[in-house]
Amino acid sequence: MNNVAQYDVESIRNDFPILGEKIHGRPLVYLDNAASSQHPAQVINAIKELYESGYSNIHRGVHQLSQDATKAYENARATVRGFIHADCIHEIVFTSGTTESINLVAQSYARPLLKKGDEILITHMEHHSNIVPWQMVCEQTGAELKVVPISDRGELELDCFSELLCERTKLVAVGHVSNALGTVNPIKRIIDMAHALNVPVLVDGAQAVPHIPVNVQDLDCDFYAFSGHKLYGPTGIGVLYGKENILSKMPPYKGGGDMILSVSFEKTEYNALPYKFEAGTPNIAGAIGLGAAIEYVQNIGLGAIAAHEHGLLEYATSKLRQIDGLRIIGEAEQKAGLVSFVLDQVHPHDIGTMLDMEGVAIRTGHHCAQPVMEYFKVPATARASFAMYNTFEEIDVLAESINKTIGMFS
Ligand code: ALA
Repeated sequence: MNNVAQYDVESIRNDFPILGEKIHGRPLVYLDNAASSQHPAQVINAIKELYESGYSNIHRGVHQLSQDATKAYENARATVRGFIHADCIHEIVFTSGTTESINLVAQSYARPLLKKGDEILITHMEHHSNIVPWQMVCEQTGAELKVVPISDRGELELDCFSELLCERTKLVAVGHVSNALGTVNPIKRIIDMAHALNVPVLVDGAQAVPHIPVNVQDLDCDFYAFSGHKLYGPTGIGVLYGKENILSKMPPYKGGGDMILSVSFEKTEYNALPYKFEAGTPNIAGAIGLGAAIEYVQNIGLGAIAAHEHGLLEYATSKLRQIDGLRIIGEAEQKAGLVSFVLDQVHPHDIGTMLDMEGVAIRTGHHCAQPVMEYFKVPATARASFAMYNTFEEIDVLAESINKTIGMFS
């Protein structure tokens, strides 16, 4: 395992087997990390070892394997708790990902509470997973969805946020980092402003946790949602953090095994937190893989990772700005490591296809943030997003490949 006093990107890269792959005969330059990051051997091995020698269903078995698997699953929960500095493990609910975490809050927290005349406040830069669950719950309850506008730089209009926040607001749901623009939102300020009116705040942290140290107690957020697969962990696993006093009052989101203390046809008694929200056999390997991913990140240090990625962002931004006909979409002062861009002459999908031929994996499309595309009047963007293992040389390959693409289309 890496234990780098200085940031040693080559040593980190050696931990990620896939980075040695060739794509179309070229070394892989993986810049689609905001969609899904790759996995170090430590995560792959943790899952392999579980299935080879430690796997069983959890919580309900008296036999040794079940007890060992239960311990590993609950250790992963403890690792998540430490990672985001939650007060206790009861506040850590395993879900299938950020999307399910937000839907859980929409249906279990907001739906019983909302009525006509109430409002949910989101922002114009949200991912669809932090828009649609709120639209659904508004349709179900007659509440209204309000949207904080953004500026041409891709920053939130905080004055408008302040104006829209009012006694009708029942919840604020805001992304910590925009997946389409890279903007890091001032969530501490947003939470303080909302709390001044006793409005709880859900933070979509899917794009933040791989890049920014998060302390949910310092932030004082009421809910914080994130996924494993953007954090060097498996797909199909995610986390909902919620304050214990709020989660404990919420009804279960799904019914089934493991979320109950007793069941009869007359009355079912629900389990304690967090199991009340984890119906059915959970994603055991996913949780254990996520725990291993977090340990890996902690071992390198999020501060060091953030500094490295910031260097990559600055370098990429300055290189891409030198390309004629390239427009960067999202130029917030505070950005995490991604650059969204469009070219005058080339559709983003063609950029993505051409770059792929050079071994460069980027994402093109609306990034599940169609309102952002609409705001910037583009159908789609090309997006290069960075992770702890990317190098400055890879940014050079990105810039050269974009120039080559322009040359071919002009
Ligand atoms: N939400 C993921 C992205 O931004 C898939 O690409």
